[in-house]
Amino acid sequence: MNFLAQKMDASINNYLTQADNNWQPSELLPVSSSDSFLEDIKALQEECKELPYDYLAVLVGNIITEEALPTYETWLMDLEGIGKNNTNGWSKWVRMWTAEENRHGDLLNKYVYLSGRINMQQMEISTQYLISDGLDNGAACDPYRNFVYTSFQELATNVSHRRTATMAKKYGNAKLSRICGVIAADEARHANAYKSFIAQVFEVDPSEMMLAFEDMMRKKIVMPAHFLRQQGEKIGATFSHFSDAAQRLGVYTTLDYTDILESLTKEWNIKNLTGLTDAAEKARDYLMGLPERFRKIAERTAIKAPLEYEFNWITR
Ligand SMILES: [Fe+2]
Ligand SMILES: [Fe+2]
Repeated sequence: MNFLAQKMDASINNYLTQADNNWQPSELLPVSSSDSFLEDIKALQEECKELPYDYLAVLVGNIITEEALPTYETWLMDLEGIGKNNTNGWSKWVRMWTAEENRHGDLLNKYVYLSGRINMQQMEISTQYLISDGLDNGAACDPYRNFVYTSFQELATNVSHRRTATMAKKYGNAKLSRICGVIAADEARHANAYKSFIAQVFEVDPSEMMLAFEDMMRKKIVMPAHFLRQQGEKIGATFSHFSDAAQRLGVYTTLDYTDILESLTKEWNIKNLTGLTDAAEKARDYLMGLPERFRKIAERTAIKAPLEYEFNWITR
């Protein structure tokens, strides 16, 4: 981690944006001091009328995932070689990354509040639950494993926000499309950062990095909202419904999971790495065969029909 930190200033310059130059949520929302504010809200609500039930459920799930940012910041700060007591620059990275991410939940939350279609209190209850329930991604405090996780997750959130952007446009809502689109672009930039960190680890510690990658894929990459629940439910009870809705809608599917895995193996040039230990060679074989196996399974998995499940986040 100290080795990676030597280039921290360059990484921050390449992959993060300073507050003065970054978009802010208010730029994409009606201006409350404007004379046309009430009309703007009416127009916004009109544009949200055609958004379907599954779409709103997935959008709210995405928002709650973004709103659980305190969980991600404390978890990253806990990783070996990163934490607050390290003077190597990692904590600066985590703070600046958090500061950018904070805009995502902020923007989406304000937007759906104005939309008139979301039960904000229920969404907020789920958010409070998710932050108190935390996240267990199986990677403990190991930075290699956790940066595989963040590489994967930034790509997954990119896919998810990108698709909600495309669909919003289809439903005639260009503003929401733009909102999801700018968030997706941030996620892509963050994904590039975490992928570059892992690429650098592969250069200096290929065998251990390979084993860490394999371990995370054997455990499967859990979604950050896997503990999602609604009021009165047990921990994690809402997650499968959220993820089924995302699969039905095509916002994030098992095929996307496979595509992300495959893109990472290509990005890190897994196939051609040399100088590996025997165990790392075996890990490589496992990883290289995995996308094909997942594709076969995905072909056989039928998309689940909507269950009689009510998301209490949606009012109408
Ligand atoms: Fe985000
Ligand atoms: Fe992100």
